[in-house]
Amino acid sequence: MSHGYFQHEGITFPGLLYSPRGIEAAREFPVYDDDVFNVTYQKSGTVWMLEILSLIHSNGDPQWVQSVPNWDRGPWLETLLGLRRARGCPRPRLLSSHLPVQLFPKAFFGSKAKVIYTVRNPKDVLVSLYHFARIFRPYKDPGTLEQFMERFLQGDVPFGSWFDHVRGWMELRGQENFFCISYEELQQDLRGSVRRLCQFLDRPLGGAAVDAIVANASFAAMSSNRMSNFSLSPRFILDMRRGTFLRKGISGDWKNHLTPEQSARFDHVYRERMGGVGLTFPWDP
Ligand code: A3P
Repeated sequence: MSHGYFQHEGITFPGLLYSPRGIEAAREFPVYDDDVFNVTYQKSGTVWMLEILSLIHSNGDPQWVQSVPNWDRGPWLETLLGLRRARGCPRPRLLSSHLPVQLFPKAFFGSKAKVIYTVRNPKDVLVSLYHFARIFRPYKDPGTLEQFMERFLQGDVPFGSWFDHVRGWMELRGQENFFCISYEELQQDLRGSVRRLCQFLDRPLGGAAVDAIVANASFAAMSSNRMSNFSLSPRFILDMRRGTFLRKGISGDWKNHLTPEQSARFDHVYRERMGGVGLTFPWDP
């Protein structure tokens, strides 16, 4: 059952778990220079990146990811519960967020804290979100994919428009504390991606540690890790009887869902909304 949505500064949020007070508290969140933020538009690989960053944090030792739920390792800033967890994290902290750039903690800007922004082919985001909306109780039932795609294209979904989110965060490209990577790059070359992340984070790791990160951040390893697969979530939040959080973990699943007409309509909106942004990720359009 859905608890409805509210609007905050033009962005839609669900009323269960989220509140205007929580969103505002996130904006006022104090930031340290050694904070590392894992930022995404939802369904773009947030928990995958969180697993990779957790494993880098522990120098490849899987003990942390196997004993502490991901929401405690890198709490989400946009709920009051997540903020409380974040305040209790020892430094250097790992923090997660789906907030659009204009609602992000003000203290980040001008700090030396780092943001890693993961972006994913929006057609795969749409399909992943469609399935997720059926199991995540704070979200409304998505209806048919046709109906849901229209709402997604208009930005009438939780966390607002994918297009605005990506456009907004892309403004930070070129800043030395901002690192952008795609889900598809993680898929194509996880080892190389881990090495680039280590470099950005100033955490040089040896080959054995990188091997351990690649092994423990695989879809199979995460799916069987109760600390990462959300099987510990209460059912009033996530109804795993209807599907799993780690659903397929592939690129291009949209081809199994969108008709050629839907895909063409999506491409049209994409061209209109993303013209000039210059995203050059290895997407299969
Ligand atoms: P699918 O629904 O397409 O399977 P988020 O964490 O931002 O909510 O994103 C969830 C998506 O990332 C899901 O996509 C999930 O399966 C995928 N994912 C999570 N861990 C992954 C991994 N280790 N490898 C590949 N995909 C992963």
